[in-house]
Amino acid sequence: MITSRLGYAVLLCLVELLVVGLMLLGIIAGAFALLALMGYVVMRRGLAPLRRMAAQAEEIHPATLTTRLSEQDAPAELHQVIRSFNQMLDRLADGYQRLSRFSADLAHEIRTPVNALMGHCQVTLYQRRSVEEYESVLARNTEELERISLMVENILFLARASQAQSVIKPVTLSLDAELQRVADYFEGLAEERDITLCASGAGQVCADPMLLRRALSNLVDNAIRYAHAGGEIHLRGRRQAQGWQIEVINQGEPVAARHLDKLFDRFYRADDARTSSGNASGLGLSIVKAIMTLHQGDASVHCTANGEICFSLFFPDRPAAG
Ligand SMILES: Nc1ncnc2c1ncn2[C@@H]1O[C@H](COP(=O)(O)OP(=O)(O)OP(=O)(O)O)[C@@H](O)[C@H]1O
Ligand SMILES: [Mg+2]
Repeated sequence: MITSRLGYAVLLCLVELLVVGLMLLGIIAGAFALLALMGYVVMRRGLAPLRRMAAQAEEIHPATLTTRLSEQDAPAELHQVIRSFNQMLDRLADGYQRLSRFSADLAHEIRTPVNALMGHCQVTLYQRRSVEEYESVLARNTEELERISLMVENILFLARASQAQSVIKPVTLSLDAELQRVADYFEGLAEERDITLCASGAGQVCADPMLLRRALSNLVDNAIRYAHAGGEIHLRGRRQAQGWQIEVINQGEPVAARHLDKLFDRFYRADDARTSSGNASGLGLSIVKAIMTLHQGDASVHCTANGEICFSLFFPDRPAAG
């Protein structure tokens, strides 16, 4: 009798223990579920500004590149991210705008000579002509095609230059030899306009030889084309604090200050009346600028007090490749 009562009490205890254990387990599970739910709610609320940012960013397309992410309602920790993102958008919008302007200018520059070529051919084919007339039309068209081909070559150069950091091979060059070399090359052309080329400057510049000559040639070609006939063009090299400066100076029609900063833009011509008749495409100075950027240097222009125009190239000191 006593044994059965004891067994019953033990059984009761065990059942109670089980019930308490189950209740504890239930409470713990419930607490976990509650914590997880609270965590989820807090995270959702915390991430809301990021989701708003993502939604705003999704709205940005090439046509809406002026849209910027708003700092309003965003937590202070995100302000720096938003500012950096907006600055990146500024740079992209600027590049995109320049690219659009470049392709519009390019289309315009190519359309004009192509239309002229078509016009010449249509007029020529309108009736039978003598061999001399056909020859003259072909010669004129060849000249125009040469100009288009040069323009395409220059455009390709500019496109490659923007991603050609590895292509440049700077070596130490004798400055006076380089200036004299370009002066000698252009002597004949200068003589046709009764212009004298004077080169001066001793020292050693660190630059890619082909690119240095191309930049200098573009400047001297311009100087001969736009200088007053019978004048002088000076090519000067001199030492600056952290590199070498080359200047090409000529007398000519004054260039208005509002044009000066734009001369290095692609297809920019200060005076169409002076340039449209020849082979000018307005790319020479942008090539000079691109070459100087490849050298981590700079190209600039200013008018001197005595009415000369002075183009300067700055080559910073850098270790030569060989
Ligand atoms: N030495 C200079 N004196 C006066 N104006 C100049 C001089 N050099 C350049 N310019 C002006 O800057 C403009 C741009 O020159 P740039 O060399 O880029 O093009 P371009 O000479 O017109 O054509 P391209 O060089 O492609 O044949 C010229 O059209 C001219 O108006
Ligand atoms: Mg030029």
